[in-house]
This record gives sequence, C-alpha cells and structure tokens, in this order.
Amino acid sequence: MKYYIGLDVGTSGLKAMLINEKEIVGVVSREYPLSFPNPGWAEQNPDDWYEAALSAIGELVSGRDASAVRAISFSGQMHGLVMLGEDDRVLRPAILWNDGRSVREVDYLNNEKGRDFLLDNTGNIAFAGFTAPKLLWVKNNEPEIFALAKKICLPKDYVAYKLSGVFATDVSDAAGTLYFDTQKRNWSQPMLDILGIDEGMLPRVYESSEAVGCLRPGLARELGLGEDVKIVIGAGDNAASAIGTSTLGSGECNISLGTSGTVFVCSDSYNCDRENAIHSFCSANGKYHYLACTLTAASSQKWWIEDILRAGYGEDVSAYIGRCGVMFLPYLMGERSPVNDTAVRGLFTNLSMNTSREEMTLAVLEGVAFSLRQNIEIIKSLGVDIKKSKVCGGGAKNRLWLRILADALGIKLEIPALEHGGVLGACILAALGDGNDVSAAFGEVSGTVEPDPSLKEYYDAKYEKYLKLYPLAKEMAI
Ligand code: XUL
Repeated sequence: MKYYIGLDVGTSGLKAMLINEKEIVGVVSREYPLSFPNPGWAEQNPDDWYEAALSAIGELVSGRDASAVRAISFSGQMHGLVMLGEDDRVLRPAILWNDGRSVREVDYLNNEKGRDFLLDNTGNIAFAGFTAPKLLWVKNNEPEIFALAKKICLPKDYVAYKLSGVFATDVSDAAGTLYFDTQKRNWSQPMLDILGIDEGMLPRVYESSEAVGCLRPGLARELGLGEDVKIVIGAGDNAASAIGTSTLGSGECNISLGTSGTVFVCSDSYNCDRENAIHSFCSANGKYHYLACTLTAASSQKWWIEDILRAGYGEDVSAYIGRCGVMFLPYLMGERSPVNDTAVRGLFTNLSMNTSREEMTLAVLEGVAFSLRQNIEIIKSLGVDIKKSKVCGGGAKNRLWLRILADALGIKLEIPALEHGGVLGACILAALGDGNDVSAAFGEVSGTVEPDPSLKEYYDAKYEKYLKLYPLAKEMAI
C-alpha cells in the first residue's frame, strides 16, 4: 500500500487529501484569514498556510499507516507575492492574486515597457494580480522591505520550502509571475532586469511532477511519517485542477468555479494571445494552456447570498430561467479577463418593483456564466474549437448553476466523479513524482449536463446585452 498527499493552498483555506493508488482515503480542510487592508487589496500570512498544512497532514495520517506515505505535492493559489529576508523571515504579508493595488505599475509595464516587449519575453501582458507588478509596487511604496528581500516565491513554494528546505517552484506557477519566459520554461532575464532582482533570489524551476527533495527529517518524525517522503513541487491551482479532472489533450477545456472562475484550455504547443487579456501559461504535463480568469465567481454568489441576502436562494430560482430580465456584471473586485480593469465594479440592471430575490439570484449565477462565456468566445476566436468542458471547484456542486452554465455557454459540461480538482491533481502529481502514474483511477466522469436547445435564443440575446454592461460600468467607475 502506498499513500500520497496533496495540499491545495487556496484563498479561503487549505484542503489536504490522502489517496492510495486506487481511491481517495481522506480529505480535511483548514481555514485561515484573508485580509483586505484597503479597498481592492488582498493579503494573507504565509505562515498561516504552513501551520494549516502541518495540522492538516497530522489529521490526515492519524490512525493510519503513516509510514506508507511516499510523497507530498501541491496545488497553489497563483501569483501571490511572498518575500523572505535574512534567515527566511517573512518580510510582509503575501499580496494575493486578487489584489488590485498595482495599477500604476501595470500601466508602466504595459505602456512604457510595452505589451509587445512583455509578450515577447513572457507570453503575457501585465495584470494587477500578477507577481511582477506587485513586486514593483513594493519597490515603489515599501523600498525598505524591497531592500531586505533575499528570496521571492509563490504561495505553494513557500509551504514546500518550509517542509523540505528546498527552494523550488514549478513551470505552471512560475508562468504567472510575469518574470518567466513561458515558451522557454525558464526565468526571463530582461524582466528580472526591469524589476531589479537577481535570479539567485528566485526558486529553482522544475516541471510540476518532479521531486525536489524530501520532507525535513525533524518534521517527518514529528508527523510520524517515514524519512524518505518525497516533496514533489506540484502546480498552480488551475494547472493542478487540469490534472485532477484529466484535462490533458490539446483543445480540451476545464472550468473551475472556485473563488475565481477560470477557463483552462490545453494546447500541445506554445501560443499567445496578443490582442486580449487571456493568459499563456505552462501546464503541469509538460505542455501549455490558455487561461482566462474571472476574479469573482463563487465569491460573487457568496457575497450575494451570505453578505447581502443573509438567507438562502429563495423559493424556486429555476422558475425564472428563460424569463429573467435582471442582469448582473460580476466585477466586484474589478476584472482580469478579458477587460484587465482594476477600477471597474459590478452592476445590477433592469430592476423593477416586481423584481424578486430569486430573479436577482438567477442574475448573479447568469452573470458569472456570461463572464466565462466571454472568455471562451475569445479563446475560440484564437482558433480553438470548444464543444464541451469539464467543471470543477466548489461551485460545481450546485446543479442549478451547472444547468445555467451549460445553457449560457451552449456547450456540454462533463462533471468529474470526484469534484476535488486542484487537491486531487496535487495527489496525482505526488504519485507521478514517485514514479507512479495513478491518474487512470481518478479521471472518471459521473455525468453530463447538456444545453437546452429551447433556451439558446434567450441566452444568446441576453449575452449580447451582457456585453454592453462593461462599457456602462466603466463609465460609472469612481
Ligand atoms: C489564475 C488566478 C486564480 C488563482 C486562484 O490566474 O489568479 O485562479 O490561481 O487561486
């Protein structure tokens, strides 16, 4: 019997999973705080991730044969800036993927250095959530902290470093920094020159399924694990989810309905979108992918249900499908793909005295679906034919939302039997790093959701109207 552990260092918390070669044996989770110190900012304490990881591993193996654990790997929230000083001290809270503070730095990179320069050297343009603009923000606004930095890394890499003592990252996560050459799969010297950092401050880059070292002996003893537990570097959460949902072949699509909503489309060869705000990143299987990110997906729903309604959905939301005039633009924290606008905010339109809670709830679910559709349409315009998609993430447990998504996108959705996405991908990568391909045991699809042809006209017309919301919201932005 061999066990593998996956750790998903997420935004709302950490999920840890234990698998054997055939099935999931256990899943545990830990929450940690997410702070918004200023409007549009988002930070977390890197040591909270590490403490959560230790405690989750402890719980996962308790009462089990811990000596059978062969490897640990990761799925991590992408783009987060972690800065370490002398003695590996954390210099400031991590600045996260959904933080919009680096507006001036994004402008400097895209307009003064130029989009072509960035695209040629990294495969991407600058977005506030990416690591490079945030690093420049620290340089411009907290020069004393920038001067103390000895190491710079991403969230999962910090946890891997604390567990193993090996300073490493993987190609999929590194591609989200904007100081990595996606096509060549190594750090980009021209970008490091712009940022004023040395490659020696950065982790060594590996492919996602590579073992970079072993669990520190002291920790292995503390956790009751064997001495030779491999640390496999793993992947950014979207690339890990693609492994977890078995989205591997060129043109295959995976949608993640998590805090963010992402569209992930595999490509066997490198390509980049020079016109729109779609990312080109490395995949965890040695290939490439397009990624588009809607910043507030499940978090729009959470905001609406928990913060605003403070109640459930209402009576029967589905009764309004096909006749709901209310529209919602889910730009509650600005938007990444495809508009790359940190200042814009969300909208509800077409409210009337008859508008019900159910209609507004439906509008929120539809609005997120339309934002994903807009990204899918752009990826299709690059010559990729998308006829179906897998769906994972917390939002994928919501059958109503899946139905709306299939109808609004007009494509068939395949629901993986195990909805765990990133953390399952991390377990599979852990096994691969141990020389063991267990993926065939986990890729099953439990069902499909087909679009309802009778709703095509309604959703096509509503989508055309949705496209008009952004210009309105942009004009209204404060
Ligand atoms: C992707 C992105 C998000 C985070 C969420 O570019 O920013 O999906 O990875 O954890």
